[in-house]
Amino acid sequence: MTDKQAKELRLQFCKYGQEHVFKFWEILSSEEQLQLLQQAKSLNLDYLSQIIENVLHKNFQPDRYASIITPAKFIKFPNSEVDWQKCKETIAIGEQTIKAGKVAAFTVAGGEGTRLGCVVPKGILQATPLKKKSLFQIFAEKIKAAERKYETPIHWIIMTSERAHNETIEFFGKNDSFEVENIHFVKQGQMPAITNDGKFIMETRSKIAMHPDGHGGALKALGRSGLLAMLENLGIEIISYFQIDNPFARSIDPYFIGSHVKNQSQVSSRMVRKLYPEEKVGVFCERKGRSCVVEYSDLPKEQAMLRDAAGNLVFCAGNTGIHLLDVQFIKQFNGKDIHSEIPYHIAQKIVPTINSLGEPIIPQVTNGLKLEMFIFDILPFAEKTIVLESDRLSNFSPIKNMDGLDSLKTCLQDQLKLFTSWLLVAGTDIPTDANGLPPFDIEISPMFADNKYDFLTKWKQLASKPAIMANQYIE
Ligand code: UTP
Repeated sequence: MTDKQAKELRLQFCKYGQEHVFKFWEILSSEEQLQLLQQAKSLNLDYLSQIIENVLHKNFQPDRYASIITPAKFIKFPNSEVDWQKCKETIAIGEQTIKAGKVAAFTVAGGEGTRLGCVVPKGILQATPLKKKSLFQIFAEKIKAAERKYETPIHWIIMTSERAHNETIEFFGKNDSFEVENIHFVKQGQMPAITNDGKFIMETRSKIAMHPDGHGGALKALGRSGLLAMLENLGIEIISYFQIDNPFARSIDPYFIGSHVKNQSQVSSRMVRKLYPEEKVGVFCERKGRSCVVEYSDLPKEQAMLRDAAGNLVFCAGNTGIHLLDVQFIKQFNGKDIHSEIPYHIAQKIVPTINSLGEPIIPQVTNGLKLEMFIFDILPFAEKTIVLESDRLSNFSPIKNMDGLDSLKTCLQDQLKLFTSWLLVAGTDIPTDANGLPPFDIEISPMFADNKYDFLTKWKQLASKPAIMANQYIE
């Protein structure tokens, strides 16, 4: 970059009220100056200033949902054997779709894991009771098992972030990609962290603090990377989207896929019933005739508390972050600037920064805002959507927090409960406490089964059944 170009760039930052970015310019080394110029050049100031203006001044209406939402209609969970029998045709449609190679798996794994205090990419976290498999390995095994069962290669896209990318790829390299052949990594976009008045926050004297652009960044990343075109060329019609921090997500689920195909849905979603009004999950709703998710913080209290005559929560459809996305529908956005369609949300954040002397500091309280897109904001753009209920243990026990609710501890307990429940239905004798927990650790590999029905089928076929005791691993 010539001196003249550098000067022009700095003027641009002035024009957009971001001149402080160059506050330490005169005392930066030439290497630091180059680093700052390169980063500054990569930012589209015009676009960013519009986004910032929108989130700070136009979109920010906390009660914007109050009077205009109704609860989403959903397909109820088949609770009994009779109900499951009725789903046979739907499951067969799903199986045919998978066998025909029309489904790809897509994991978003670019989050920062702030609540968990993760120093490595979340996918590397060891998350099974006995074998301490990483989250990445769990999903790799689910995908391998589906490839075997349906005798078709399954393409697996993994979204990472600037920070997580190299470490993720290295981890897969070290583990021989867990023997999954068709893995594609894609890096999501980044956004600058801003102050409450819209100024970029400096991480160092020569670097603007950046963060991943949210799981909604997946849509743009798929287009930009050419992966969407690749899927289309491969004849793949459905993207099975799930989040790395929920090892219960069924990455390839014939019942879900069959329901999506049968209903000609463009975006399908898995829900679980909210357990209590304050539970921190978004809720599927309808708004102006379209589906949407209202975040728990945006759901007005009256609606959150509302119960029907039977005492059930009315706004009960909790978002699990598991969706099926129609490739052609996602492609519609490809030509457009998706950012102008999908809104940004803001979250308060502690952003490591510098003081007035340019020295690094870690604030004790939130000092900045993170701008993120959410995948579920695509819902209102779809004409056809379905929401499918699931029982919790079959699909949802995410690892979000270091302790308490939705932590590694609760996720491990839920795995034990799930495995035990399958073994009990299979007729084994296994003691449990009042919470359904066995007195010892056991583990069932996703390569054996990732759901009750596959488990029962395989278990029946076993010539000699393993004894159920402490540290038993069934694979
Ligand atoms: P969360 O919204 O729970 O965020 O992500 P997080 O980043 O993992 O954790 P916190 O909020 O900082 O504590 C849900 C899923 O979306 C992915 C995460 O990796 C997780 O699988 N995600 C989130 C991304 O891939 N990119 C993002 O920018 C944000």
